[in-house]
Order: sequence, then structure tokens, then C-alpha cells
Amino acid sequence: MNKEEGMLAISRLVFELTITSSTTADLDILLERLFNILESYYDLQLEARGAILLLNPRGRYFQVAQFGMEPAWTTRTKWNSPSFTRSTINARCQTEDTLTSDEAPAIAHMLLLPLFTEGKGLGYTVLFAQPDFEMSETHLGFMDELARALSGLINRALTGETLRIRELELEESRADVIRSLGVASEYRDNDTGLHIMRMTNFAQVIAKALRLPEAMRELLYVAAPMHDVGKIGIADAVLLKPGKLTPHEYEIMKTHTGIGMTILEGKDELITAARDIAGSHHEHWDGNGYPRGLKADEIPLLARICAVADVFDALTSARPYKKAWPIEEAYDWVLAQSGKQFDPAIVTAFSTAMPDILRIRELYRDDIIDPKQVLTLPAIRQRKNVWIPWDNNLRIGIDIIDEHHRYLFDLINDLYEVVVRKRGAREVARLIKALDAYAKVHFRAEEQMMEHYGYQGISRQIGQHQTFEHKLAEFYQELHDNPFVAQFDVLVYLHDWLLHHIRVEDMQLQAIIKNS
Ligand SMILES: [Fe+2]
Ligand SMILES: [Fe+2]
Ligand SMILES: [Fe+2]
Repeated sequence: MNKEEGMLAISRLVFELTITSSTTADLDILLERLFNILESYYDLQLEARGAILLLNPRGRYFQVAQFGMEPAWTTRTKWNSPSFTRSTINARCQTEDTLTSDEAPAIAHMLLLPLFTEGKGLGYTVLFAQPDFEMSETHLGFMDELARALSGLINRALTGETLRIRELELEESRADVIRSLGVASEYRDNDTGLHIMRMTNFAQVIAKALRLPEAMRELLYVAAPMHDVGKIGIADAVLLKPGKLTPHEYEIMKTHTGIGMTILEGKDELITAARDIAGSHHEHWDGNGYPRGLKADEIPLLARICAVADVFDALTSARPYKKAWPIEEAYDWVLAQSGKQFDPAIVTAFSTAMPDILRIRELYRDDIIDPKQVLTLPAIRQRKNVWIPWDNNLRIGIDIIDEHHRYLFDLINDLYEVVVRKRGAREVARLIKALDAYAKVHFRAEEQMMEHYGYQGISRQIGQHQTFEHKLAEFYQELHDNPFVAQFDVLVYLHDWLLHHIRVEDMQLQAIIKNS
């Protein structure tokens, strides 16, 4: 190969990759095209396999893409050559001999193509040459050029992913503002905000049972917490009254629907959905509700869903002026209201979603965890390829905590699925946020229980929970700078942290059972 041929190959590669990968940030595809083009350069004698390894800020390399090799999560290949113990990237392309695997060691000639962006080392593209191949200066020069081209392309993919995360953040920050308005309204008469979380999640599983499209369910998820936002405008004397309301006070209370609609003025989809819910969640299917006495289909669908979710949670929760109803009674009551207060189709969906609803009640409970409470929830569906499998050895013997932990596992496995299926950093960011939100709920519940039962190791537990929360926030930030690496990095961290924390720390919570 002469220099011209080499340059021609590289410009062809860059050109092809630029036009074909403009819509995808898939680095596997980038490698595949690279190999398609390099194939025609017979004097390179490359093996048909390679990988991209990127560096995290703590000096660890992650295999983020591959061709002709197993992906990172199933790979046995250990990248243990000297270059991968250093966090500085060599400026020039180099060759290095390495062992291919631990099981069947064979010497492979590795080519390390450095990846840089604005002078900062990102990692390497790793190729393998045939064992007897002698690398000449011309070859190395070609590889240097190739490395520069790949740097540019990978950098472009990184920027694309970062942009998508920013996009998500813009959307989310709007949703967050709206959500916090909902939470603020709730804090006035309920200081944990857990009613909103339960009710929103109930609404979600009902919507799933109704097979509503995903976009609509997302809208519901953001808008449902706003259902009582109008309570902001109700005087304390009425809203916080411990006893039964007089007819006059009740009329005042009812105005929270209209106030909610006034607050939620705006034209976009999200605000409209929130306004529908805030304005109509007390309407009844038979027309006997308020404020407008709407009937059946006149009531917006999302409001009809929220009505069931809201009432069921109100009935089964204790309030200063009433005890919580037993689940069966509340369930029977909701079913009896089918066609009266509630839409029959939604009551059917509610009934279908009951196993999920019961689980959500335990995941977001108001009262202090009773270590001796026995849960008899239906089995969770078994998933295939999981990142962090649940097994009964992880049970600490407090049913409710075990259920929380299983749910954390579930969220982590959802995250894994998104990473493996390459759904992009945007989805990863979304799931990390969800995981962070639930971890906080779980930690607070655990800490509350420890405090209540005078558990000795509480400060140690709180410290570890805080470390975890900080770490997750850090990963979320890192996802912006280095989306490809952070995806793998966070999975490894979650796996190790959670297993260790449950096995070593939470396991000791068993002591509480004896004291309770
Ligand atoms: Fe309400
Ligand atoms: Fe825990
Ligand atoms: Fe814990």
C-alpha cells in the first residue's frame, strides 16, 4: 500500500460514515463500516474483529462497541494489556502483543489507534493484525490517519448523544416545574408527597391495562401529580380542618377544581392534559360529579383514570379525620361504582392492574415499615437476560424491604435493557432519573424504620445511602460529557454497590426483627 492509496481509503471511509451515520450514534455500525472498507486493503492482514474502548474519568476503560467480538456484557476478553492500565492515551498509533483470553491464551498483535478530541484522550480503537504480520512505517502512518478520522467520527457521535440528553433535560425541566407545583399543593395537607407518587403510579398501571399508547401514558405520568394543584387556593381553615366539613366548607373545597384549571393556563399538550385532569377528576361517569356535572365520554379520559386512582388511594390511606379502609373493602367499593362514579372500562382495567397496584402501595408506603409484616404479593414476571438477577439469598427477611430491593433490581435491569438495545443516552438519562427518584423513596423508608426501632448502625447506613445518591448524580452529569462510557460505568457501579449494600449492610437490619 502506498500513501495515496491509504489516504484514499480513509477519505472514502470518512465520507461513507458521515453520510450513513448522520442519524445514528451507533458505534457498532461505525466499526462494521470500517471493516467493510479495510477489507479491500489486503496488505494490512487484519483479523475480522475489533473494538472501541473509551476511558472514564477515573482511568478505567470500557468496551463500548465491537465488531466480530462479544459485547462488553458477555465478553470474557479482559483488556489487560499495559496500555489499559494507563489513563494517558498515546498520541501515536502503536502495536502491542497481548493474550487473547484467559481460557485459551494465544498471542495477538493488537493495534491501538488513539482517539482524541481537542487534545484530550478519549480511548482507543483496537484492531488485531495476523500473528505473522510485520507492521511497516507506512502502515503505522496510515493507522495514524485512520485514528484521526475515527476520532472525528466518534466525537461527532458523542456530541449527538449529548445533544439528545440536553433535549431531554429541556423537556424534563418543564415537566419538573409542573410536577413540583403539584407536589407543593400536596405538601399543605400531606407532608410526604407519597400520595401523589402512589396515585400517579396507580394511574400508570391502569393506563397500561387499558393499553393506552406510550406517548399518552407519559403525558399522564407528568400531568397526574397536578390533579389537586387548585388546593393551593383553598384556605387553611377548610383544607386542614381535622373534622368533617360543613356543607358550606365543602362547597369551598370543591372550588379546587376550578382554581386548578385557572392555574394551568396554556396551550401545549402537557398543560392541556394537566388542566383536563385538575378540572375533571371529580366528575362522575353518571353526571353526578363536580364542577360541571359532565357525563361519560364528556369527561376527559385521563381525568377518568385519575379519578379511580385518586379515590382508591384516598380510601386506603389514613387521614387525620379517618382510618384507612381495608383493601378488600375499598376494592369492592370501586367495583360497585362502575357505571356510577367511574367509567366501567377503567374499573375493569383497575381490576386487571390490581396486582401492580398492591405492589405500588408497598413501594410507596406512608407508615413506618413493620419488619414483621408478611407480604403475599403475586409473583413478579421473570425476565431473561438480566444484569443483576434477584435470588432469594438476597432476602433480608423483612418482606417490605425485600420488595423495595426487588423493585430497585427491576429498574436497574430496565436500564440494562436500554443500554444493550442501544436505545441511546436519552433513554439512559431518563432511567437513571427514575432510579434516583425511587432509591430516595426507599432509603428514606429504610432510615425511618431504623430510627423508629433504634437501630445501632443507622448513621453508617445513612452515610452509604448518601454516597450512592451523590454517585448517581455524578453519573448523570458524566452522561453529558461521555455518554457511551457512562452507560456501562453506571451499570457496573449499580451492580456492585447494590449487591454489596444488601448483602453486607441491609442484611444486618434483621436485628430489628428481634427488637420489634
Ligand atoms: Fe381533588
Ligand atoms: Fe436497602
Ligand atoms: Fe440501606
